[in-house]
Amino acid sequence: MDPTFRAPRGVGGLYIPPPDKSITHRALMLAAIASTASRVGNPLATGDCISTRRCLESLGAVFDEVDGRWEVRGVGLRGFHEPRRALDAENSGTTTRVIAGLLAGQPVFAVLTGDDSLLGRPMTRVVEPLRAMGARVEGREGGRFAPLCFLPGQGVLEPLSWDLPVASAQVKSCLLLAALRAAGPSRIGGLIGSRDHTERMLRALGVRVDEVDDALHLEPVDQLPGFDIEIPGDISSAAFFVAGALISGRELSIRDCGVNPTRCGFLEVARRMGATVEMQEERTSLGEPVGTITVAPGTLRGTRVTAREIPDLIDEVPLLAVLGLFAHGMTEVRGAQELRFKESDRLAMIARMAASLGGKVELFEDGFAVEGPQALRAGQVDPRGDHRIAMAAAVAAVGIRDGVRIRGFECAQVSYPDFIRDFAALGGERE
Ligand code: S3P
Repeated sequence: MDPTFRAPRGVGGLYIPPPDKSITHRALMLAAIASTASRVGNPLATGDCISTRRCLESLGAVFDEVDGRWEVRGVGLRGFHEPRRALDAENSGTTTRVIAGLLAGQPVFAVLTGDDSLLGRPMTRVVEPLRAMGARVEGREGGRFAPLCFLPGQGVLEPLSWDLPVASAQVKSCLLLAALRAAGPSRIGGLIGSRDHTERMLRALGVRVDEVDDALHLEPVDQLPGFDIEIPGDISSAAFFVAGALISGRELSIRDCGVNPTRCGFLEVARRMGATVEMQEERTSLGEPVGTITVAPGTLRGTRVTAREIPDLIDEVPLLAVLGLFAHGMTEVRGAQELRFKESDRLAMIARMAASLGGKVELFEDGFAVEGPQALRAGQVDPRGDHRIAMAAAVAAVGIRDGVRIRGFECAQVSYPDFIRDFAALGGERE
């Protein structure tokens, strides 16, 4: 599918984003290891989260669909069935790394694999600490890459004391979930400032996870209770239309959206770039704040984003480049070297995307600089299977009269199955 996106009147209006990918993954995984049934309302029933569901089903969790909700019967903390086949995480880093924490030291043999993009993503970051907990984990090139292979253990791991060298929520979540089955309390320090969904959800289920002296301390448990959750809208998906509205000079009102502060970094930067952003928290769902966000445009101006801010906007960095192309002055992003290890080398892909549209982005090892506004022209972008690059290119089309053609746009399915529908509903056109 190679659609052309165009938006002569811009995009804006009232909008409900698709369900949050990160929270869906975690809800499904926690439900799979709970001792009683759980209900997951409004799950993201696509791409990456389907990969997680299939892996968990292969491990014995039972999923039923009732009135659009997923009812999950978990197997308990140590009740996984030995899967007959390799577990296929497909394109999903979250599935691979977080399920690794569930599988480590379990009394089953399991293999975790994925697509070409996934097989190139770093796994040492989970393999090393899981080995430090006594788990027998092997993988390609000594454990640097998937496929990963989990040899049977006793179901119990050694307590962990570990400092995270990269701010990764996937790694932090992997280790927190493994630590649930440790023989004593674990400590996870270092760069723990990434999205905190796992901590919030575990606390809501009664697990002791305390932050003391810049480290997380988790007390193991014998079992987890089942739960009900309504998955909030995904702020990372909403961010595409926030950027689109800002480029269009239109307002956007976002309902039923997750407003967890560890996910709101992009809105902070949008404010600095000239937008007016209001956020209203209305309720919580299993520890996750949910509310309404209103964005009103202003004259876009460049800004500087530093390493400290990256974890709270890690998935929105391609959009910062798109905004930078339309903003006045210099937009510079540094400390974002992690982008090189996403579904693609996203820094390189940002520069390629801009070049395909006649734009120029200067690349650094850890980020980029873009001087705007640039005169972009209609063109064709090949996102090479990276969903966030594909959708960022569609957003760039909002500011390009003759639009942007995107090759293989079906890759957007992994996080945002209805992107094209929402683009049209908010005022855009697609051929
Ligand atoms: C995610 C964490 C982030 C993010 C990814 C989802 C998660 O990755 O980029 O899209 O759900 O934990 P890292 O934790 O590897 O930075």
